[in-house]
Amino acid sequence: MPENEYTKELIRFLAETGFVWGPSPEIYGGLAGFYVYGPLGKLLKNNVENAIRHVFIKNNFWEVECPTIMPAKVWEASGHLGGFTDPMIKCSKCGNGFRVDTLIEEFTEDMKLGGLSDKELLKIIGEHKIKCPSCKGRLNDEIIKHNMMMKTKVGVDTEVYNRPETATTTYLPFKRFDEFFRKKLPFGVFQIGKAYRNEISPRQHLLRQREFTQAEGQLFLFGHEKNNFDKFKEVENVALPLWNHVAQTKNEKWIPIKLKDAMKEKFLKNQAYAWTLNVAYQLFLEMGIPKDKIRFRQHDPNERAFYADDAWDVEVQLGSFGWTELCGVHDRTDYDLKQHSKFSGEMLDAYHEEKKEKLVPHILEIAFGSDRPTFALLDIFYDPKSDPDRKCLRIPAKLTPVKAGVYPLVNKEKLPEIAKKIYNELIQDFVCVHDKGGSIGRRYARADWRGIPYGITVDFDSMKNNDVTLRERDSQAQVRVKINDVKKILHDLINGTIEFKDLKK
Ligand code: GLY
Repeated sequence: MPENEYTKELIRFLAETGFVWGPSPEIYGGLAGFYVYGPLGKLLKNNVENAIRHVFIKNNFWEVECPTIMPAKVWEASGHLGGFTDPMIKCSKCGNGFRVDTLIEEFTEDMKLGGLSDKELLKIIGEHKIKCPSCKGRLNDEIIKHNMMMKTKVGVDTEVYNRPETATTTYLPFKRFDEFFRKKLPFGVFQIGKAYRNEISPRQHLLRQREFTQAEGQLFLFGHEKNNFDKFKEVENVALPLWNHVAQTKNEKWIPIKLKDAMKEKFLKNQAYAWTLNVAYQLFLEMGIPKDKIRFRQHDPNERAFYADDAWDVEVQLGSFGWTELCGVHDRTDYDLKQHSKFSGEMLDAYHEEKKEKLVPHILEIAFGSDRPTFALLDIFYDPKSDPDRKCLRIPAKLTPVKAGVYPLVNKEKLPEIAKKIYNELIQDFVCVHDKGGSIGRRYARADWRGIPYGITVDFDSMKNNDVTLRERDSQAQVRVKINDVKKILHDLINGTIEFKDLKK
């Protein structure tokens, strides 16, 4: 999809407000695919990660942290050294390389490229007369495979790689997990941490970075128990917006379908996978992504990663880049544990009580990260237009970085002192700001632009009545509340136990 005006406005907004700066290091000209989260961006990303933790924990996944660097043999075993490649095309004039699918997507609207052969991709490039984005030169007639692994060294000359996914590093201590969970499969583990991919000329801001934060959940279970999964009962009536690959080829729309019906229709291969899709759905809702902006798109069999037997992406509709993949749910079968058993010489199997034998478990994976959802929240909730006089970031209060601003109406008499006291009290529980600079209108505008959902203004009546004005960002409505109640009210508003309009009564 061509870069639109909204994308430019959004990226400018992110830099000016202190959400995201880059490419970094800016003073050295910037390296594509590397970004700095400024103070507001980092707070937002933390909130996103805490939402992820909350959903994983309540679904009984346990968090771990593994090294980001692993020996070459690990990646030989996982298949990444051989197969983790992107199709690249080079310019015949300047020699720059470009990722073929993103290049085509930049020049065309909503074209589905999954599963197309090199010949078909070259044909599209020819038909759309796509030229080199750097120098407008002619592109080569050949697509080459570009491996995305980043190599480095440890010690004097041991060849190692930065991990391109957290998943593989989560699989290697399998025997340790089996002991920890007292040999009772299924069990779930997740990891939030950095991964590295040598992307070809990335140009989609936080959506395609070379260093990024993944959040991946892994469910270990016996293969023959995938379709006899107790927890499926709890979610069988949940409807997910599923878009299977047959509907995609027929140009039909995705439809909300109950998981039990999706199983009957054979959209989904097994109950455990259906349950895992629902965990992914919960994750995105908890991260604040609106329901109507989410769909699950099944991969065409030719499009799947080399380790996946079935794969559905969670796609989110963005104003900047259109429908965008934010997560992949993969049935990795016993592929990984078998490969690492073979290459390490350690059998990664588990004892099955009823069968009285050792089996190599399967893995269902929810693969995503915290950068893309953070970007998605900013993209979806940034509203530079609906009100001609103000730009507003409407991120829900629970996720937004700064929860409240405290403002003395004027810097006179005891107003600044009272405001400071309220601020000192609130900062114990929330991230908030105390802003004394400029007219009150300017301060509200600054706060709205940064997504601060509530403002507390101290005025002359506050000195007599011990109350303040509480202002809501989205409606700009105002109510008077007692100073002593402010903290409790803010807690309730942020947690969603009350709504602002309830306060007027
Ligand atoms: N772990 C799968 C992925 O990184 O996409």
